[in-house]
Amino acid sequence: MIKVDTTHAFLREDVGSYQGIVTECHNMLMKGTGKGNDFIGWVEWPNNYDKKEFARIKEVAEKIRNKCDVFVVCGIGGSYLGARAAIEMINGLYSGKKPEIIFLGNTFSSTYISQALKYMKDKEVCVNVISKSGTTTETSLAFRMLKRFMEDKYGKEEAATRIVATTDKEKGTLKEIATKEGYETFVIPDNIGGRYSVITPVGLFPIAVAGIDIDAIMVGLKKAYDDLASDKLEENPAYVYAVSRRILEKQEKNVEMFITYEPQMEMVAEWWKQLFGESEGKEGKGNFPISATFTTDLHSIGQFIQEGKKVIYETSLLVENPTIDFKFPSDEDDVDCMNYLAGKSIDWVNKMAARGTLEAHSLTGHVPNITLTIPDMGPESFGYMCYFFFKACAISCYMLDINPFNQPGVDVYKKHMFRLLGKI
Ligand code: PA5
Repeated sequence: MIKVDTTHAFLREDVGSYQGIVTECHNMLMKGTGKGNDFIGWVEWPNNYDKKEFARIKEVAEKIRNKCDVFVVCGIGGSYLGARAAIEMINGLYSGKKPEIIFLGNTFSSTYISQALKYMKDKEVCVNVISKSGTTTETSLAFRMLKRFMEDKYGKEEAATRIVATTDKEKGTLKEIATKEGYETFVIPDNIGGRYSVITPVGLFPIAVAGIDIDAIMVGLKKAYDDLASDKLEENPAYVYAVSRRILEKQEKNVEMFITYEPQMEMVAEWWKQLFGESEGKEGKGNFPISATFTTDLHSIGQFIQEGKKVIYETSLLVENPTIDFKFPSDEDDVDCMNYLAGKSIDWVNKMAARGTLEAHSLTGHVPNITLTIPDMGPESFGYMCYFFFKACAISCYMLDINPFNQPGVDVYKKHMFRLLGKI
């Protein structure tokens, strides 16, 4: 379901020559002998996810959907990016679907938090607070505000029926609050880290509330599990992608720019950046993940990509079939001189722009390009894509002898911030 094309990647080494190390890394991942092996619960998740909890996710989501105009997802990093990526990719940006999903707990911006609370004042609201640790400051701060808002609006008892907590099965402050208040809760598995958790209740519950078919996500996930099971490079496009990244890094292309031509995939890019950035950027190693949406950003940073310092390579995630397409109309007067496109599909125009950009950046600009193609922006493709990137990321990291599943560097800002905030 995902095609990888390295024709324009200018790889100076043969991908196949990496088979030995890839097999080694594959075995480490599959046998659980590699670094961070207490966080590889996602590997077998397509087979062994808790079916009872999955059914409850759908049940509770249906109840919540019918109860609110606005559904607040309160979380940060892996506790929000995956859900947002899925919801925007699958539903689009202006679907008009109810409930409207909004995001809190991912910022300390006083303006953002107060505007969001004001926006919800006269609307029916439900909340999903998500935190594996149960103590993340951005999320805790916003949730205290949200809890108060909900209790003022509905009273304590009714508020408790409108708040769902997704957190650790027994530890953390959020678990304590949820137990005390009697919230419905979902469990984040111990052995799946935040940025791999979109396929657990962390992502699946908000995605289901957004009216998306989560069964289809799991079908895609399982397909990817089966398709990407082999250690053989000729049978595993996720590993070809992983190796290509490593070869490009050796060619001093240390900045990977994730490109999409669909604005509704921008949050997929954010999710991808977290996955690769937090997994790989350690011990002075790794490719720096950045992203752009084309053709929009061709009118801003396109100049740099074309003619600036040659540190970038692009990974374009193309979509074969758009969710909606339409034909460009003809105009009798043609004052805007656009009739040359009359009768053409807009998606065809987008695809020609992608092809032209690939030629410009790779052939003229000498910027290596990896192209990944997914069939559509539906839930099955989403599930498949997640597993594809999980595996590619884990193998990329193991090839660098890095633990893909921790994030020690993230704590440094927290230490400095806590000192300044006077946290004891
Ligand atoms: O990938 C990760 O582990 C992080 O991005 C976390 O998801 C993020 O820091 C939020 O943590 P928590 O779910 O504990 O609030």
